Amino acid sequence: MKKIPYNKQYIDDDDIQAVIRGLKSDFLTTGPNSEAFENKLKDYCQSKFAAVCSSGTSALEIIIKCLNLKKNDVIVSSAISFIAGANATILNNLKVKFCDVDTSSGNMNLNFLENILKTEKNVKVVMPVHLAGEIVNLEKLSQMSKFYDFKIIEDACHALGGSYNTEDQKNIKIGSCKHSDAAVFSFHPIKSITTGEGGAITTNNKDWYDKFKLLRSHGVTRDENLFKNKKLSYTKFGETKLLNKWYYEMHDLSHNFRITDFQCALGISQLKKIDFFIKKRGDIASKYFELFSKVERDLVQFPSCNKNYLHAYHLFIVFIKFNKLKGGRAKLMRDLENKGIQTQVNYIPIYYHPFYRKMFGKLDLSGCKSFYNKCLSLPIYPSMKFEDVEYVVNSLVSLIKKNKIKDT
Ligand SMILES: Cc1ncc(COP(=O)(O)O)c(C=O)c1O
Repeated sequence: MKKIPYNKQYIDDDDIQAVIRGLKSDFLTTGPNSEAFENKLKDYCQSKFAAVCSSGTSALEIIIKCLNLKKNDVIVSSAISFIAGANATILNNLKVKFCDVDTSSGNMNLNFLENILKTEKNVKVVMPVHLAGEIVNLEKLSQMSKFYDFKIIEDACHALGGSYNTEDQKNIKIGSCKHSDAAVFSFHPIKSITTGEGGAITTNNKDWYDKFKLLRSHGVTRDENLFKNKKLSYTKFGETKLLNKWYYEMHDLSHNFRITDFQCALGISQLKKIDFFIKKRGDIASKYFELFSKVERDLVQFPSCNKNYLHAYHLFIVFIKFNKLKGGRAKLMRDLENKGIQTQVNYIPIYYHPFYRKMFGKLDLSGCKSFYNKCLSLPIYPSMKFEDVEYVVNSLVSLIKKNKIKDT
């Protein structure tokens, strides 16, 4: 039987050789490959700075800490996303406010956001997610951020390699932070590129970049330029030059969020292929569109997407009327699994999770509810064959027809 996962990494011999070289080098933890990966990432994204760490989740947690927010400050998160952004907010002792999504794209609904901004005075950060790789209207969000005075941290974990055109037709890379303050990436195996586990931020803000590097490693630094609190410094500022490399100071409370150097060797090798990965994902998506265009329109529909943007196609989400199927989504997913096809639901609204239910009670956002009730992620990954796309489409269509509840 075929085995088609819903997403999958692409590792070739160059990647394997890069990791072997990394393992044979003197550095296993953060070292020269980490710095080289950061340089290549910032160049690729066209930002001033990039800093890597152990995961997308830790990148979110650290970058939020870099902002020095106060206890009752609020971060607005999209409620259709992975839980990491909301969790990072709570872990920083801040308040999370969930924004509803546009039910046709699953991305943050900017009209809903504006209503939040009008009533909630403590919003300091808005954290949009480019769901599945479909890019949020950052130009508009950036205008709103100036008017309402908040920072934008993009959860760009689905969108490395994507880009958008501005109203005056300038092409802007995700991660360049032209219309945001920072962007966060994940290098989990199913993302645009992988380091196994891993994450990064890009930003044009030097202070945040310096602080990010401090916080990813216990709040400890060896950089005398960062020994800012001269009064508390054990050694006199300036003397440290004589102290050589053994001297370090801890300036903030943090964890070990470092990534290993051989993971970064893999990251460098993967980054060389990113445009190929994005092209392949785009080709798979086009094949799906072509094949679905030949079946009845109301069986399977698609999220809206901006034709002026380069979609990263981290996920391929379709909309299905599950309430018109015997056994609903659960049975359809099980039937597909029995045919060797893995699917996924991206995402359960975050406030449905018991932890957040306790916090928010019966929060009900109509866009999120409608998106959640109709979405299904079909397999998409760079090495997926067109014949497998055909197999997925044929299996899905025949199961929908078979399970369809007859109109009475
Ligand atoms: C939107 C989003 N944000 C954050 C994360 C967290 O990334 P990581 O798995 O690298 O911690 C993910 C990963 O699944 C994600 O999809």
